[in-house]
Amino acid sequence: MNNPEQSFGKDLLGLKDLSATQIEKILDTAKTMKFILSQKNKKTGHLVGKSIVTLFYENSTRTRLSFELAAKYMSASASGVSSTNSSVLKGENLIDTAKTIDAMGTDVIVVRHPMSGAANLIAKSVNAGVINAGDGMNEHPTQALLDMFTITEKKGRVKGLRVAIVGDALHSRVVRSNIWGLTKLGAEVSIGAPATLLPPDIAKMGAKVYNSVQEAIVDADVVMALRMQNERQKSGLYPTAAEYAHFFGINENRIKLAKNDALIMHPGPINRGLELSSSVADCENSVINEQVTNGVAIRMAVLYLYTRGREV
Ligand code: CP
Repeated sequence: MNNPEQSFGKDLLGLKDLSATQIEKILDTAKTMKFILSQKNKKTGHLVGKSIVTLFYENSTRTRLSFELAAKYMSASASGVSSTNSSVLKGENLIDTAKTIDAMGTDVIVVRHPMSGAANLIAKSVNAGVINAGDGMNEHPTQALLDMFTITEKKGRVKGLRVAIVGDALHSRVVRSNIWGLTKLGAEVSIGAPATLLPPDIAKMGAKVYNSVQEAIVDADVVMALRMQNERQKSGLYPTAAEYAHFFGINENRIKLAKNDALIMHPGPINRGLELSSSVADCENSVINEQVTNGVAIRMAVLYLYTRGREV
């Protein structure tokens, strides 16, 4: 018998909607996928006959490529549409674009869009499963899943760990998905950012909030720096890059406040010298490249579980 707690619906829109059991099932499945990725022949038959389309209205290196590789490793067909190489440039709207992709018999649409709620909107309009690859300032569920997978791999657990997330929380979908996911798995999450870069409702999500990086990272088991999202900022929310780096950047001195074996994480791409110094980004505790590697395993797990769910 299927455990309903371990089954999945048509769409992965955010971690807010998932239970701890569902998150753990994805992380567990990703372990198997990572083993497959370690083999000489990475090809599996998990998604034979399926088609995956990535629909990206914002730039991406990691998320888009890892979804496309994940689909191909599992024998699905993978195609990409972006807002800069499609009929979006001729004025076709989001829903018509999604319905067009759906009408071609696509099984899964992986979407990234600058508007919060865009993935949700598409999910209601298409038969295909929809996976949110980042919607505005709302959620980036597969990023948080790969972050939790990396933490579990390195620390053996998430429960009871102190995870500090520092930087531009206001514009970050990564921070929201991580707060939902990490707190569901029992971590203590602290956020450190200047008041101008903190969303007003963030404490209600279950995180402790500090206006100083120092307070946020004391005794942390994991320090996750967030990218400064200048492209989403309408006016200067911090004085200068140098001042931001001085007061809020994670550098060699500041990281000493965290535990000696604290993991250094960043979703990428990094603004080196702004949110993270190169000496910290490249230090032996940094798992930033492993996050990228694990992104493929997590996206394989997600594609598998969300397409299999529709056949059970
Ligand atoms: N972390 C992340 O979403 O990176 P990309 O923008 O390169 O996909």
